[in-house]
Amino acid sequence: MKIAVIGTGYVGLVTAVVLADRGHDVITVDNNPEKLAKLRAGISPIYEPGVEDMLASTLATGRLTISDSVAEATQMSEIIFIAVGTPSWEDGSVDMAYVYQVAKEIGSQIKSYKIVVNKSTVPIGTGREVARILQEAGADAKNFDVISNPEFLREGSALKDTLEPDRIIIGSMVPDAADRLSEVYKSFDCPILKTTLESAELIKYASNCFLAVKISYINAFSRIAEICGADVADVAAGMGFDDRIGKKFLQAGLGWGGSCLPKDTLGLLATSREMGYDFGLLEAAVTVNNDQIDHFIDRIRTKLGGFNGKTVGLLGLAFKPNTDDIRYAKSLDIIQAVTAEGGKIRCHDPVAMDNVRSEIGVNDVVVFCNSGEEVAHDCDVLVLVTEWAIFKSMDYAQIANSMNEKILFDGRRALSPAEMESAGFEYFTVGSLHG
Ligand code: UDX
Ligand code: UDX
Repeated sequence: MKIAVIGTGYVGLVTAVVLADRGHDVITVDNNPEKLAKLRAGISPIYEPGVEDMLASTLATGRLTISDSVAEATQMSEIIFIAVGTPSWEDGSVDMAYVYQVAKEIGSQIKSYKIVVNKSTVPIGTGREVARILQEAGADAKNFDVISNPEFLREGSALKDTLEPDRIIIGSMVPDAADRLSEVYKSFDCPILKTTLESAELIKYASNCFLAVKISYINAFSRIAEICGADVADVAAGMGFDDRIGKKFLQAGLGWGGSCLPKDTLGLLATSREMGYDFGLLEAAVTVNNDQIDHFIDRIRTKLGGFNGKTVGLLGLAFKPNTDDIRYAKSLDIIQAVTAEGGKIRCHDPVAMDNVRSEIGVNDVVVFCNSGEEVAHDCDVLVLVTEWAIFKSMDYAQIANSMNEKILFDGRRALSPAEMESAGFEYFTVGSLHG
């Protein structure tokens, strides 16, 4: 089938290369010239395992083409996915400007039947608004249908999640259009659930917000565990044996970051407020999440007797391992707190350092190092922020010897307390006796 994907971010690029790999003819569009130059050279603008190889192979077979023109992509395709970003406004509501601008451009080019698909996470009612914009821009109502087909991929495992999804959701008011879109996915081995537009839009928010609530729930227990001397990992393991609860997403830590859970919880809270529903449960999950990192920073501050004049070493900067994404990364909160109070940072991340440099600018209080070992030199405390595999296999005895103070805070419960103590560290983590 002939498919267009507008937007080559984490969602758009992965969708485009996977659909091309599955034999469709895909044209993918972006308005960022630097991204386009990289893509045309077969270089992925994002770090996501496997994506660059699939980009190269689909470009080589000619199944994937890169363009800067929404008009060209619309004319060449029957199915057009919108996957541009949907950032948050200050008040948490969703900035829909990019989606609506793209819809306008698509609408002005529709001369024959097209299916326009929302992949981006968008507020309830967006499907109908996109249909209105398409028509206002000149498209004849009989020449298009709008479908909501939300994406559930996780950064760091985006390719696998897209190739082997748990489910595909197709929200449409027109059964024929839903059937046609299902054909795009006919080689995927998973259930396809067809719903109304609004249900599909809500499924995406309901899923992400549930994951956020689940993590906040275990993080709230991590606080109780620290007070009463329980171990939250044991609590999570004990809960996880119950099929109704499940083992996944019960890892206590520094709280959820990234481009989706923070944005989508705030987005749904804004939507429910507009609808007149007070979603107290979700509000509380956001509060727990904010408190989790503040509490962790407080513990480090107390242990050091304040950050002024101290050097804090950070292992990991990305919001989770296997990605270079630093949106709502906990590292940024720690950097902000330490440097605002007169402390210095030494840090390393395998792929996210350039993004942090661009975010905070070059200065002499944040030093970027070539390895975790180098970070530790002359630090007063070492903090594991992102549980990259490489940080789990370092020689911590040697690292301890290179530090001013042998203090280690493990924000992800990624290291063995016994091993760290025998390496000479005073070891602290989230939600346990070692807290
Ligand atoms: C996506 C979804 O869009 C978002 O709704 C969801 O919640 C998370 O995943 P993501 O892929 O992470 O967002 O966004 P981003 O990495 O910001 O990529 C968006 C891309 O669209 C960028 O490459 C940007 O250059 C491009 N873009 C943006 C356009 O091509 N045209 C525009 O008008 C705006
Ligand atoms: C999330 C959803 O999982 C995905 O389905 C959706 O399409 C996009 O949003 P993503 O943000 O890429 O994916 O990563 P995810 O693995 O969900 O992690 C989100 C945050 O939660 C990370 O900061 C991670 O460190 C944290 N997390 C995750 C925990 O603290 N504990 C856990 O048990 C799981």
